[in-house]
Amino acid sequence: MRLERPASFTTRQTHCFRGGRRPKRMKQVLKKIGDWLARTLVVPCAVGYWCARVLFGSNKAFPGWSQLMSLFPGLIGIYLRRAFYWWVFPRCDSGAAICFGTVFSHPTCSIGRNVYVGVFSCLGDVTLEDDVLVGSHVSIMNGSGQHGTARLDVPIREQPGVWPHITIGRDTWIGDRAIVMANVGRHCVIGAGSVVTKPIPDFAVAAGSPAKVIRYRTESGEPSSVGNAG
Ligand SMILES: CC(C)(COP(=O)(O)OP(=O)(O)OC[C@H]1O[C@@H](n2cnc3c(N)ncnc32)[C@H](O)[C@@H]1OP(=O)(O)O)[C@@H](O)C(=O)NCCC(=O)NCCS
Repeated sequence: MRLERPASFTTRQTHCFRGGRRPKRMKQVLKKIGDWLARTLVVPCAVGYWCARVLFGSNKAFPGWSQLMSLFPGLIGIYLRRAFYWWVFPRCDSGAAICFGTVFSHPTCSIGRNVYVGVFSCLGDVTLEDDVLVGSHVSIMNGSGQHGTARLDVPIREQPGVWPHITIGRDTWIGDRAIVMANVGRHCVIGAGSVVTKPIPDFAVAAGSPAKVIRYRTESGEPSSVGNAG
């Protein structure tokens, strides 16, 4: 967004106006330098993953590297993880923050701008659109049918299942310890400890197990006609 200078501003005020933007720009430059430094540092990890992928396939090679990257604490850890996933995922935006202990199980995730994922979360094959906030100890699974259960003569672990890709829509907030097994729309809130078993429409605030819509964030309090995650 471009900041407009009010017509009544004096020269002195104009100077202050410009000066106020300098620290922000400086911060952005430092962040960019940090990002490129981290991207350089994690190159051996990315190369290690790519070599393992050739030998074992991506689904076997990837989780170990994600677990290793999850172990770096603090801000340095956030930079290193962001850098590793920047190399490995189809998309990991430079504004994303993935906290300590959080692991991904698939290398096909997409992480949007300003996404935040709290500590000790487990994420499957997911797209987190821009501005998504994920609390701590959240589990986002690929649906609920990872194993077939129809047959009794074959162990469950040998029965094929389905792994749908899950999308969490832009500007959605997932509360602590939620379990998400279906798509969640844009601008939603999912209550702490909720279990999402069915797609949640845009603008919904949903909570409980199974998660039910308790209200909508629209002005009318009704579902939006703009579309949903279904
Ligand atoms: C979902 C949430 C935003 C709802 O807040 P709210 O709109 O103020 O809703 P209310 O507190 O008025 O509750 C409305 C109803 O939903 C229920 N409810 C609220 N949150 C719930 C939850 N997490 N699980 C189950 N039910 C919940 C309330 O008990 C209440 O039920 P009632 O009408 O039968 O009394 C909030 O409860 C929540 O879970 N926030 C996430 C907090 C969090 O995880 N923070 C850390 C991560 S950053």
